[in-house]
Amino acid sequence: MNKIAVVGSGYVGLVAAACFAELGYSVVCVDNDLERVAALRRGEVPIHEQFLPELLDRHRNVRLQFSGSLAEAVKSCSVIFIAVGTPPKDNGEADLSYVESVAREIAQNINGYKVIIEKSTVPVYTSDWIRRVMLLTTDVQCDFDVVSNPEFLREGTAVTDFLYPDRIVVGADTRRAADLLRDIYSPLTTGKYYASVDKIPEPDDVNLPPRMIVTTAKSAELIKHASNAFLAMKISFINAVANICEEVGADIEQVSTGVGSDSRIGGRFLRAGIGYGGSCFPKDVAAFRAVAQECGYDFGLLDEVMKINENQRNRFMKKIRTALWTLKGKKLAVLGLAFKGRTDDIRESPAIALVEQLLAEGAIVTAYDPAAMKRSKEVFGDRVTFTEGVYQTAAGADALLILTDWDEFSSLDLKHIRQQLRYPIVLDGRNLYSPEEMEEHGLLYVSVGRRPSALKQLAKVS
Ligand code: UDX
Repeated sequence: MNKIAVVGSGYVGLVAAACFAELGYSVVCVDNDLERVAALRRGEVPIHEQFLPELLDRHRNVRLQFSGSLAEAVKSCSVIFIAVGTPPKDNGEADLSYVESVAREIAQNINGYKVIIEKSTVPVYTSDWIRRVMLLTTDVQCDFDVVSNPEFLREGTAVTDFLYPDRIVVGADTRRAADLLRDIYSPLTTGKYYASVDKIPEPDDVNLPPRMIVTTAKSAELIKHASNAFLAMKISFINAVANICEEVGADIEQVSTGVGSDSRIGGRFLRAGIGYGGSCFPKDVAAFRAVAQECGYDFGLLDEVMKINENQRNRFMKKIRTALWTLKGKKLAVLGLAFKGRTDDIRESPAIALVEQLLAEGAIVTAYDPAAMKRSKEVFGDRVTFTEGVYQTAAGADALLILTDWDEFSSLDLKHIRQQLRYPIVLDGRNLYSPEEMEEHGLLYVSVGRRPSALKQLAKVS
């Protein structure tokens, strides 16, 4: 059985390593951050991800090892997944220097046939560059293939996304490498894993077993960028429609249900709000834009996607000002700091950007997030007061702001909220409630793409 090395222990790397161990492989997860390796060995779980603690407990020191030595991992494994970071540069391009240095080190330690598989989101041509760097680095006759196997996992559901994927994309330019990847994923594609008694529970609406799509490496690289850009476009599209809804008095939730029920369009990723964030969409749309530019194609549509996304936050800021008139000295209760629910990740979070702006305008912010408090404290320090829970956050506030779609924020005791607030104002950037429900509880409610409840008088003042 193939022994697998996964280079990088971030979201993608750690989840992939744990899931490959779950599929029965012997896995070594490598990171050059030795403190992180030590923490992982001690049993710490550095990210908030459903089922990950269970998988790590199940496989740590059995089928899953953590190591700081890429050289040793290369020598002992024939299958090497690269899942290191590809952060954005100032011009939007992905910074591939980590990928390059991993490729160089693999080449320096190669001792037989290796399949090097890029799992990080990378621009088209990266597989060519990895191949080139490897060939330039070593004078030993290298026997290797480079494959692109993009990962489509979402934070919060990463483990189930890995084990129950919609599809598995393998971009391999040789038959040998394609067959090897077919073999590696066979526990999923043959359904063997789904028959096991202690499998991770199956999510709703999955078509099993997943389909494997084998393409060229370049096509696979493009599939990843194009998929993320398309999803981001869907979100910006519905946000733009939400803005029209506000102008004409329509309801975006009804419009989105109507539009999304067309099976050619599909209802997912049509939730209007304060825009997309996270470590992928903002970075990948900008990187795809840069890739297009580089190959001489002006992909202006992506500029518009980014512009609408940014405007969405500004529009929400305007709504806060309209509802509260002046912000200086106002006490605002913020629910949610993560870029979406079920994660502790605050990278590119619209909530964080909004809080920064509220602070810049002199507001006093009290905040609560079920998982992202630790990371948010690192950003805000004592500029924000962090509380233990929703109702404590709301106590004495001039308005309540819902900025992340955490499940627990969608079932608040509205009577209690009403009692806690100084002004009965709720501004919801995630449309978690209906205006009618809020009205019934005597709350002035402003959301996205829908009429504000009982706030008409205030809206006129702006
Ligand atoms: C995304 C892709 O979904 C995944 O396939 C890829 O591998 C990595 O990037 P992720 O960033 O974890 O995953 O989050 P996702 O659930 O896709 O949400 C991204 C952002 O879009 C969040 O800020 C979310 O709140 C926002 N969003 C999502 C909306 O505003 N509306 C929607 O309808 C869906």
